Amino acid sequence: MKIAVPREIDGEEGRVAATPDTVKRLVGLGATVLVEAGAGLKSRIPDADYAAAGATVVPTAAEAVGGADVVLKVRRPTSDEIPAIKRGAILIGALDPYGNNDAVKALADAGITAVAMEFMPRITRAQVMDVLSSQANLAGYQAVLDAAGEYDRAMPMMMTAAGTVPAARVFVMGAGVAGLQAIATARRLGAVVTATDVRPAAKEQVESLGAKFVAVEDDEFKQAETAAGYAKPMSAEYQAKQAALVAEHIKKQDIVITTALIPGRPAPRLVTADMVASMKPGSVLVDLAVERGGNVEGAKAGEVVETAGGVKIVGHRNTAGRIAATASQLYAKNLFAFLETLIDKKEKSLAVNWDDELVKATVLTRDGAVVHPAFQS
Ligand code: NAI
Repeated sequence: MKIAVPREIDGEEGRVAATPDTVKRLVGLGATVLVEAGAGLKSRIPDADYAAAGATVVPTAAEAVGGADVVLKVRRPTSDEIPAIKRGAILIGALDPYGNNDAVKALADAGITAVAMEFMPRITRAQVMDVLSSQANLAGYQAVLDAAGEYDRAMPMMMTAAGTVPAARVFVMGAGVAGLQAIATARRLGAVVTATDVRPAAKEQVESLGAKFVAVEDDEFKQAETAAGYAKPMSAEYQAKQAALVAEHIKKQDIVITTALIPGRPAPRLVTADMVASMKPGSVLVDLAVERGGNVEGAKAGEVVETAGGVKIVGHRNTAGRIAATASQLYAKNLFAFLETLIDKKEKSLAVNWDDELVKATVLTRDGAVVHPAFQS
């Protein structure tokens, strides 16, 4: 059982799919682990630490991946990386399949068994494998730090001999995993925090973190949650009512953090250019949904835009990757927890139960075909 950990080739990706801790556990399960030299450097993991944990560090990706039965990745392999992976190998990563049908087909054509960790069901047994939660939590935290870094004022109220500094007003839009952590982080920094969401369950969670909930709570809102706990797309009528409420609220905010997503769809547009223009100079918006089309009009992926009115719109890509060392630690643990279920501990070999609900939910491609139900046309 050979397991490969190649270096991520995307220059913006600082994370790595295994840590010395997970390598040690895999070796303990009988695996031979091959780590490409430098794979952990941007997450502050030297090659020597992988070696000390029992991995063989090899100079190239081809040497790590060639012959591997399992390839652990952060990002979906590109057309440059795919040829090194052997047919029948299991690839496990955050494969970002929605809207990338050609790339998914390329994995199928290469005979790779690709597992998209994003599709892990949110059931108790799989909580430890939930990459969306582990990474969104850190993104929510980092978004507040990014906002604080761009904001030319203090976050907490300060009563000093030279005068009183008011607390910043922070509004968090979307109170899922990222939003709730953003609320908690902004509160720890002393901000006055409000938040909104379209799911009724969010209200209590927001309030339990000491923030005020702001939303149109009509009949549609009361039913706006799927069985899986995700948001539903809202009607045009609801969106208009909510936008009017938000427009009034945003004028008075110093910092807005948007995290609203609906799985498999473009991000809902929540903040218009007019709302941005209504904010005071020096205000900051951080759009965590920027890579899925953005919640904020004018947000640009990979950029911090400053409007004519002096409002900054922060659109960093891969916010979890901005806190790479911690993100890798949690991501690697998520992957290990899943991979462990594919291993027969007595035989010390791979033994995938294709009927396991976790496997069925996450396998995208197998035996040359795209097999996931979400990708059947
Ligand atoms: P997400 O990343 O898909 O969306 C982020 C947030 O945006 C969600 O709270 C969603 O309701 C909100 N949103 C969507 N459209 C919006 C709009 N128009 N206006 C305002 N907000 C909008 O969601 P995430 O963070 O992955 O979590 C969704 C839910 O799943 C949460 O309730 C979370 O607590 C729950 N969850 C359950 C887990 C479990 O193991 N049972 C694990 C992780 C999350």
